[in-house]
Amino acid sequence: MKKIKDKTIRGFSKLAKADKIKWISDTFFSSSEEAVHIFEQFSHKPSEVQKIFESFSENTIANYILPYGVAPNFIINDITHCVPMVIEESSVVAAASSAAKFWMSRGGFHYEIHDVEKLGQIHFFWEGDTKKLIHLFDTEIKQALLTKIIPFVSNMEKRGGGIRSIELLDKTGEIDHYYQLLIKFDTCDSMGANFINTILEECLKEMRHIFSSRPHLKDGPQPDFLMAILSNYTPNCKVRAWVKCKLSELDQAYKPVDGIEFANRFFKAVQIAKIDKFRAVTHNKGIFNGIDAVVIATGNDFRAVEACGHAFAAESGAYKSLSDCRIEGEDFVFSLELPLALGTVGGITCLHPLTKKSLGMLGNPTARELMGIAACAGLAQNFGAIRSLITTGIQYGHMKMHLDNILNHLNASEKEIELALSHFNNRGVSFTAVRNFLEEIRNS
Ligand code: MEV
Repeated sequence: MKKIKDKTIRGFSKLAKADKIKWISDTFFSSSEEAVHIFEQFSHKPSEVQKIFESFSENTIANYILPYGVAPNFIINDITHCVPMVIEESSVVAAASSAAKFWMSRGGFHYEIHDVEKLGQIHFFWEGDTKKLIHLFDTEIKQALLTKIIPFVSNMEKRGGGIRSIELLDKTGEIDHYYQLLIKFDTCDSMGANFINTILEECLKEMRHIFSSRPHLKDGPQPDFLMAILSNYTPNCKVRAWVKCKLSELDQAYKPVDGIEFANRFFKAVQIAKIDKFRAVTHNKGIFNGIDAVVIATGNDFRAVEACGHAFAAESGAYKSLSDCRIEGEDFVFSLELPLALGTVGGITCLHPLTKKSLGMLGNPTARELMGIAACAGLAQNFGAIRSLITTGIQYGHMKMHLDNILNHLNASEKEIELALSHFNNRGVSFTAVRNFLEEIRNS
C-alpha cells in the first residue's frame, strides 16, 4: 500500500512542466514511472507547436488527443464540403458521412442565416429614482458611453460590425433596485467574446466615472456595479438548415419500407421529441454530436454553443426538439433552427495548427458560412440517428465499432478479429461476451 502523503502543494503553477508531471505521478499513482511515461507520451517534445498548446491553458502537462475525422460529400448551399469533425464517439462521423451521401443526390443541405447579433450585459443596482435614471441614461450616459468606446470599436466598424444598440432595462420588478445595460453587437467573423467583454468593462468604468465625478451626481446615490459580461444566449445569432425531397425519393432510405412509410415513421419520431423532454434531450444530444464535432474542429467554444442551444430548445417554456419534420403534400422537409455563435477569426481559430487546417478544408468560411456548415452537420447527424432508430435500431451500427474497440483493447490478433466479426455478426456485443469469446478460442 502506498504511504499516505499530503496531496496538496503550494506554487504548483510555478514548477517546470517536468516537475509538475513528476509531482503528480509520485503523488497520485502507485506506478510513478508508468504515469510519467504516459504524460510524456502525450506531449510533443519541446517545439513551437507544443509552446502554442501550452499557451492556451494553465498547468498543461500533456495533450489530450481526440480523433480528428472528416465527413466528405456534404453538398451545402450547392457547394461541396468535406467537413472536419473532432469527436471520440463511435459512429458519429460514419453517420454524418452516410447522411451527407444520402442527401447528395437529393438536392443536398441548405441553410440561411437570420442574423449574427451578439449580446452583453452590465448588471447594476441603484437605489435612486427609476425615472431619473432613465432620463440620465437617455440624455447623458448613453452618448458618453458611445464616445468612450470609439477607440475600441473602430477596427470592428471598419470590418462592418460594431455596436448596434445600448439599452437600459428596468429590472426592479424582478429584483429590488436591479437594472441592466443591454448592449447588442455585430462582431463580424469573430465569435467576439474578448471584444464584447472589453467594451462592457470600459462602459462599466465610464458609468462609475460619470456617477462619481459629475457635480449633479457625485453627491447622490451611487450605483453598485456588480458585473459586466457577454451573454452566451444569442437568440438573434440564428441559423436554419434544411433538407427537402419528394417522398418517393425516400424509398432508398431503408429498403424494406417505401418512402411514405419511412417519412411517416420519421415524422412521428420528431413529433415525440417535440412533446417529451426525455426524448428531446437525447434527440438534441444527437444534433450536438454533429455540431460540437465541427465546432471543436474549427476551434470554437462548444460549451457556449451547447448552453445557448439548450436554452433555445426551452425558449417556449418547455424543452423541445431543435429540429422539425414536415410532410407537405408530396414533399418531406426536415429542418433545424438554432442560435450558433461561431467565429472564423480570433481565439484559437488561427492558433491551433489543426483548426487552421479545418477552416482551410472548408474554404476559409465566414462566420455565417461556418454557422451554416455546423448546422448542416447537426441536421445530418439527427437524420442519421433517427433513420437508424426507426429502422435497424441504433446498436446495429454502433456495435460494429464497439466490437472493434473491444477487440483492440483486448489485443486481438488479425485471425481473432476475423473470427470475432463473424461470431458477433448476429449476436449481442458486450465487453464480457467478447472477452469470453477470445478466451475460448485462445484456450482451444
Ligand atoms: C447517441 O450519441 C445519439 C443518439 O442517442 C441520438 C438520438 O437518440 O437521436 C443516437
